[in-house]
Order: sequence, then structure tokens, then C-alpha cells
Amino acid sequence: SEMCIRDRITIHVTVNDEAYIRTVPVNMTLLQFLREELHLTGTKEGCDEGECGACTVLVDGHPMNSCLVLVAELDGKHVLTVEGLARDGRLHPLQEAFLEVGAVQCGYCTPGMVLAIKKLLDEHPDPTESEIKYGLAGNICRCTGYVKIIDGILLAAEIFRSGKLPEGEKTGCGVGERAVRVDVAEKVQGYGKYPDDLYVD
Ligand code: FES
Ligand code: FES
Repeated sequence: SEMCIRDRITIHVTVNDEAYIRTVPVNMTLLQFLREELHLTGTKEGCDEGECGACTVLVDGHPMNSCLVLVAELDGKHVLTVEGLARDGRLHPLQEAFLEVGAVQCGYCTPGMVLAIKKLLDEHPDPTESEIKYGLAGNICRCTGYVKIIDGILLAAEIFRSGKLPEGEKTGCGVGERAVRVDVAEKVQGYGKYPDDLYVD
């Protein structure tokens, strides 16, 4: 007898407010879909087994490790990646704050960190340090020691509440001013390219 095994499926999924209809392998993860199908490389692959949080995105507002989710399960869902965080030409407060305090070193963990904590800030615009640490429990950073990341999230909460960067937090190029790394804007927005983000025809 003839056996029919379905190995591809057509899905409708919205990513960063853009609707996509794609036929994909049934075993394709959301991470593969974002990076290989849509070339949205801001979402990073660290461990590919749910340990590091580098691949965190929001699915209908909830943080998820995109390496653990099959895109076939997301029919009709809304996905937000780091590329969709800035609005109307303005960085999200988390991006702005990470940039200001120097919460970014290599930047590989940054998109996942920012998305992992966004829901917490949306729901609790005045989080305590322990709530922040709890919110980041699934995200590993090998560079920063987390101190600047927590500073960045506390500053983001301030920006979130007041709508602007607090006085005295401005960075600059003068003596005694806090300097901003030259590559930090691309890291917080997810368009900086690492070797695995390059596609060759
Ligand atoms: Fe998904 Fe590490 S790549 S948790
Ligand atoms: Fe390098 Fe976090 S900044 S892993």
C-alpha cells in the first residue's frame, strides 16, 4: 500500500507586523525560519538546545526560545524579533538604555536579553533588581558580568516611565563623559553581522 508522509506544511505567521505565508519543513524551528527563511539574523543561535537564551523572541507577547519551537506550531501567531523593536524611528527604551550604559560587549546575547525582559517592563514598569534577575534567568552572557545589563534594564524602566532619558545620563566625547562604543547601535538593533549571519549565493 502507498504511504504518504507529509514533510512540508503551509503556515501563516506574522513577524514584526509583516504577514508571511510560507511552505516550510514540518521540523523547521522558529529560529531556522527567522534566520534561514527570512534572513532576520538579529535572533542569534548560541546552543540550539534551550540553554542560552540568545534565540529569545516574543510569540504573542511571551518570551520563547525560538530554537525549541517548531514554526509549524505558530500558524496565526505574531512573532516579535529584535528587528521589530524600534518604532517610528526611535529605539525601544531597552535598546536606548543598553546603548547608554554600555550593557553590550560582543552583543551576541543582547537581542535575546532585551526581548526576554520586555514583557516584564511592559507589565511592571518599576521592577526590582531581583525581579530583573529572575526575568533574565534563562539568558546567559559570557562577557558583561550582568552588572551593566541590570543597570541598563533599570535605566530602561526609568525611560519607560518618564518617556525620556534622565538628565545627566547623556553620553558624549568629552573628558569625564561616558563614551558609547562605535558598534553598539547595530548590536542593540540586531543588524550587526557575525560570520554566521552572512549568506553566500
Ligand atoms: Fe536557543 Fe540557546 S540558541 S536557547
Ligand atoms: Fe557578549 Fe553578552 S555581551 S555574550
